[in-house]
Amino acid sequence: KKATLYVDRNIEVGEVDKRIYGSFIEHLGRAVYEGIYQPGNKFADNEGLRQDTIKLIKEIGVPIVRYPGGNFVSDFHWEDSVGPVEKRPHRIEPAWGVIETNEFGLHEFMNWSKKAGTETMYAINLGTRGIEDAKNVVEYCNIKKNTLYSDMRRKNGAEDPFDIKLWCLGNEMDGPWQMGHKTATEYGRIANEAGKIMKWIDPSIEVVACGSSNMGMPTFGKWEATVLEEGYDTFDYLSLHTYYGNHENNTPDFLASSVDMDKFISAVVSVCDYVKAVKKSNKQINLSFDEWNVWYHSNEQDKKLEKWIEHPHQLEDIYNFEDALLVGSMLITLLRHADRVKIACLAQLVNVIAPIMTSDTGAWKQTIFYPYMHASQFGRGTVLTSVVKTPTYESKHGDAPYIDSVVVKDEENGTVTIFAVNKDLENDFELTADLRQFADYKVKEHIMLTHDDLKAVNTEENPDNVAPVAYNGTKLDNGVLTSILPSRSWNVIRLE
Ligand code: AHR
Repeated sequence: KKATLYVDRNIEVGEVDKRIYGSFIEHLGRAVYEGIYQPGNKFADNEGLRQDTIKLIKEIGVPIVRYPGGNFVSDFHWEDSVGPVEKRPHRIEPAWGVIETNEFGLHEFMNWSKKAGTETMYAINLGTRGIEDAKNVVEYCNIKKNTLYSDMRRKNGAEDPFDIKLWCLGNEMDGPWQMGHKTATEYGRIANEAGKIMKWIDPSIEVVACGSSNMGMPTFGKWEATVLEEGYDTFDYLSLHTYYGNHENNTPDFLASSVDMDKFISAVVSVCDYVKAVKKSNKQINLSFDEWNVWYHSNEQDKKLEKWIEHPHQLEDIYNFEDALLVGSMLITLLRHADRVKIACLAQLVNVIAPIMTSDTGAWKQTIFYPYMHASQFGRGTVLTSVVKTPTYESKHGDAPYIDSVVVKDEENGTVTIFAVNKDLENDFELTADLRQFADYKVKEHIMLTHDDLKAVNTEENPDNVAPVAYNGTKLDNGVLTSILPSRSWNVIRLE
């Protein structure tokens, strides 16, 4: 089969905000405990922070991490997580049915972020708490000194403010499963009031309001419009969350889930611009896709979990090769909306629905690690307008292209990268791209992830079962690129 890519060097979709390669660490399962923090483990440093995990996070180049939840945050008391560890309370954690010891808290996380080279996107509790606590935690984190909470921070060992620039106003407040779930009007009001005072305390911060937990929510659309009507002038971003699963073991449908994600983004952009028009505002609300991934493998197992224990194995999806293909397509989808999606978090980062897994004896890369790492490493710069002419197939999400692709130009490093997924389970595709505008470029490398077995996984014993390889057959002659995109493959074609 054949596909043709058309790209224009001068027509840009938008700059890639590096924060679209963000991720997420929630106090959930073994994300924090045993994932990033495990005192006494042979890979932990003198502060208990696992260096093997940090090394893999640095390989990806994760620019920002959302913390501390998730559903967890909606009953979280941030004060529990600061001060002398021996005085911190052990609490019932109703969202996930476990015990939280608070041994690892705000200061430990900020210290970890520094070591991992990431920035922080901090979520506040707008479920069981409200404006007062939102105000206090911003003061604690971002005010220099001589006030109650800033001095408390200094007393707890951090002389300099944490200076957190990005704040989530709660989590999934549209979901009945959320502690302190609200109607759109109730949430819009409290989020606006909280965000307003938070910005009075530190005008340099940006805030993300909760959008819908997924596009299938009964309140989808109206939720976004109502929330934005309440707080348009306060909010900077509106969030989107979505997870996909291959529950019916129908791989073509599963791989077409990126079509659904694309529709979701376009729909939320429309609602944002509708409210902009109604408000006659010049301000544009951008999107924060702050939870996205595949999540379904661990669902059944998690139903059997014993309650009220500390950091059990929870949401430990073992990702297979087809999951990596979809994650690649979802990254392409985010990039194709670079004009409006400014933040995105692969949910999550370690052990819990994560690209990185750990045990007491090591850390390894799940299949989805690779597309995430490639996009973060090579997908920075500017997304160019491109169109791929490709056959399509019928899926439960509508017409789905066999070839998904996007082109990113990195002016600073003088490179152009084509990311492409071939979703055809039987046929290789011959890809031709008219690159006459890039005639002075050469093919630097073509990295490929493919496997005969769609269900192949990486494990601690066999960590390289699904791993990228180099492909040498891609040519760029007289401005025409020719390549083969094998059936079921993720491809990164780099030109310089
Ligand atoms: O990432 C796992 C959970 O998924 C988060 O806690 C919640 O926000 C979402 O429903």
